[in-house]
Amino acid sequence: MASVEISGLRKLYGDVVALSDINISVPSGTFFTLLGPSGCGKTTLLRTIAGFHQQSAGLITIDGSSIEHLPAHQRDVAMVFQDYAVFPHLSVRDNVAFGLKQRRIPAIEITRQVEEVLEVVELGKFVDRMPHELSGGQQQRVGLARAIVVRPKVLLMDEPLSNLDARLRVDLRAELRRIQRDLGITTIYVTHDQEEALAMSDVVCVMEGGIIQQAAAPIDVYLRPSNRFVASFVGANNFLKVENLKGESVLKCCGGSVSQHLPADPAGPVVCALRPEDISVKVDEDPSSFLNTKISIPVQIKEVSFVGREMEIFATTDNGEALKAVGRSDSNVIALPIDSRAWFCVERENLSFFKDNELGERV
Ligand SMILES: Nc1ncnc2c1ncn2[C@@H]1O[C@H](COP(=O)(O)OP(=O)(O)OP(=O)(O)O)[C@@H](O)[C@H]1O
Ligand SMILES: [Mg+2]
Repeated sequence: MASVEISGLRKLYGDVVALSDINISVPSGTFFTLLGPSGCGKTTLLRTIAGFHQQSAGLITIDGSSIEHLPAHQRDVAMVFQDYAVFPHLSVRDNVAFGLKQRRIPAIEITRQVEEVLEVVELGKFVDRMPHELSGGQQQRVGLARAIVVRPKVLLMDEPLSNLDARLRVDLRAELRRIQRDLGITTIYVTHDQEEALAMSDVVCVMEGGIIQQAAAPIDVYLRPSNRFVASFVGANNFLKVENLKGESVLKCCGGSVSQHLPADPAGPVVCALRPEDISVKVDEDPSSFLNTKISIPVQIKEVSFVGREMEIFATTDNGEALKAVGRSDSNVIALPIDSRAWFCVERENLSFFKDNELGERV
């Protein structure tokens, strides 16, 4: 177990800024996930911690000691890659024993440790198989066993589940989390799959453009995104333009009829975010009867798609802004003809507001 601290970290490839001023703190034993779109710098950050890349500036410490002068193999970190990276010509046993042999550990001890770790990843029965005789998920567990058998202080994983089919990914993510908890190993995990990040992590760290956007518990990232990018990347969101009248803001889409106090006066243009799952669709309700705790947005239905347990409703406001709602299937809504009138209703407390500028900070 070990803590990882990163401060002022920068990484340039020529004149491409892949990481700019990264500051993160990963407490001992934490499952810490880097989440962000393609090209945001996740792999670069992980490889810089592992020692495969030299940083351009900044400091990385493990348990308070700087590691930048250490070559990769002396950093006491292990990395699991997206593409399994098991040796195809070695059996499961020899793949897992590889790192232990390099450390000149006695053979009897290697056998014991390999068997123990293969039990942890539930591959005890497969010790003598070759990699081509294993499924993708089993190969990835060999990769994990190989990384953890050397008891690294920090485990780094770069999209280890992304080559697996959807079902196996869900099974294996629960298993990875169990193994990480049992071992108590500090883990930095990379994914661009927000559901995976929310399901597995103690801390989700959202990145974009080489910058940390927010690092917080999954529920906080979801419920209180710190800026517009996080609100749109984690969970789907609808955004509506808001007319800001000295702190008393009006949702323009509703023909100026819906007013909403903002938590603070942002002194500039604002957008309102509402999550599809927070919208309930009313077919024949008089909007004037709504309580003050809700807003109701008149819309024209454009499409209702029934996807089993859920339905997705696409509509436009009177201003022509597109909105999407998601909810439990309701036959009254599914039966709505195209262009019919309905109301999208949201609890005011579920609305979020962001500045309508480049940073898009939460208001
Ligand atoms: N060797 C390199 N030389 C130049 N630019 C690079 C190099 N490696 C990465 N980059 C650039 O640095 C940025 C970050 O890349 P990185 O691989 O860290 O992204 P990522 O978040 O892991 O993306 P993905 O989800 O697609 O794996 C990208 O703009 C990428 O084009
Ligand atoms: Mg990557």
